[in-house]
Amino acid sequence: MNVVVIGAQWGDEGKGKMVDYLAREAQIIIRYSGGANAGHTIVIGTEQYALHLIPSGILYPDKIVILGAGMVIDPTALFAELEMLKSRGIDTSGRVFISDRAHLVLPRYIEIDKQRDKARKKPIGTTGRGIGITYAMKAERDGIRIADLDWKEKMDELEEEDRKFLAPYVDALKAMAIDLPSFLASHKNAQILFEGAQGTLLDLDLGTYPYVSSGMSCAAGAAIGGCVGPRALDKVLGVFKAYSTRVGNGPFPSEFDPQSEGELERFVRETGREYGVTTGRPRRCGYLDLVALRYACRTNSIDSLIMTHLDVYDTMEEIKACVAYRIGEKVVEDFPASIEALSMAKPILRSFPGWKKSLKSVRTYRELPAQAREYIEFIERYCETPVSIVSVGYEREETIIRTSPWTK
Ligand code: GDP
Ligand code: IMO
Ligand code: MG
Repeated sequence: MNVVVIGAQWGDEGKGKMVDYLAREAQIIIRYSGGANAGHTIVIGTEQYALHLIPSGILYPDKIVILGAGMVIDPTALFAELEMLKSRGIDTSGRVFISDRAHLVLPRYIEIDKQRDKARKKPIGTTGRGIGITYAMKAERDGIRIADLDWKEKMDELEEEDRKFLAPYVDALKAMAIDLPSFLASHKNAQILFEGAQGTLLDLDLGTYPYVSSGMSCAAGAAIGGCVGPRALDKVLGVFKAYSTRVGNGPFPSEFDPQSEGELERFVRETGREYGVTTGRPRRCGYLDLVALRYACRTNSIDSLIMTHLDVYDTMEEIKACVAYRIGEKVVEDFPASIEALSMAKPILRSFPGWKKSLKSVRTYRELPAQAREYIEFIERYCETPVSIVSVGYEREETIIRTSPWTK
């Protein structure tokens, strides 16, 4: 059985924590999109790991992890990450593979990414990791893939500085390279967990374009970037926070108003530790946006939702969620494509009573206070999608499983 975990908001929903948790029952974990723009956090006891390229199943000694064909890989970042894991006692040898169809990020692309974003009239606020440029080179058919490292003619055509940069990495990259379709064909009985990066609203096609990343962070991207057909994906899980965050620029209809809700914004940012894993930037924070979440459910055929960060609201008297937008004179319940409309959208909020109790030690759904269940069950009805897992803290074990995704 194969399960996909995607971000259902603007990234940083807690995918790393959940993929690590769910990887227990998988044999292979495939990251299928994005690059070192991602930052996936896993906390086990007092140990915290930040992963950017390596799939979040790596902490188990027996799991095979694969960087999929849809990824863009910066060799410097990759080997730094492998080194970090080694220094912390994680043996990665012989179980980290890279699809030979994945593309390489070159230092030149990183420079162009930074310069271009700075020069934009309205910067996107990219992570400066060369992501957009590498995907653009791929679309232009001028990119360099892992498989090309073996293609003398292509390597000879490279600019001198690119060849020089790649030279020290070539052998190590080739040693990890696999033909993913044939690898999966020889692991037919393995349970595969596909790990998304970014989130639906940062997806190149489905997101708030142009304020998006350049990869396919949607569920369909798992098929393309994982070198399987869509029918191989048995279940799609969408991870979302009990509130919303966004890093970088672009419309965010339910964002807390810094004037009237500055206190709430500070509280959520500090309690939820809402600072970027990759860039350290403070994340923009806002109410849970159900219009956007239902859009993510629809566009990814999400089977069930994973709600994280519910504990951040533990001390609140009242909780609010956005159930529609007011755009000019209109009340809108469907997520618009127009950036202009999204930028004008004012959230229509619904209020819920808080539970005023720590959820940290809750491990079953029934033990959750009635107010927390009421909030969750409203979300289920609104999105027409069940919430199968609830996360009540950043640690691996601070997790409530209502239904295991590994049962058909
Ligand atoms: P990802 O990019 O989706 O993997 O998410 P990040 O790791 O960038 O950001 C999520 C942050 O929230 C990390 O600091 C996690 O340790 C933390 N986190 C994950 N789940 C929970 C949760 O249920 N409660 C709290 N308080 N923190 C969480
Ligand atoms: P994870 O996997 C949050 C955002 C950037 C910027 C936009 C484009 O940790 O959820 P890029 O460098 O990709 O061209 O930047 O996308 N962004 C993310 N925001 N989480 C991420 O990944 C992100 N990856 C990119 O902040 O707004
Ligand atoms: Mg992140």
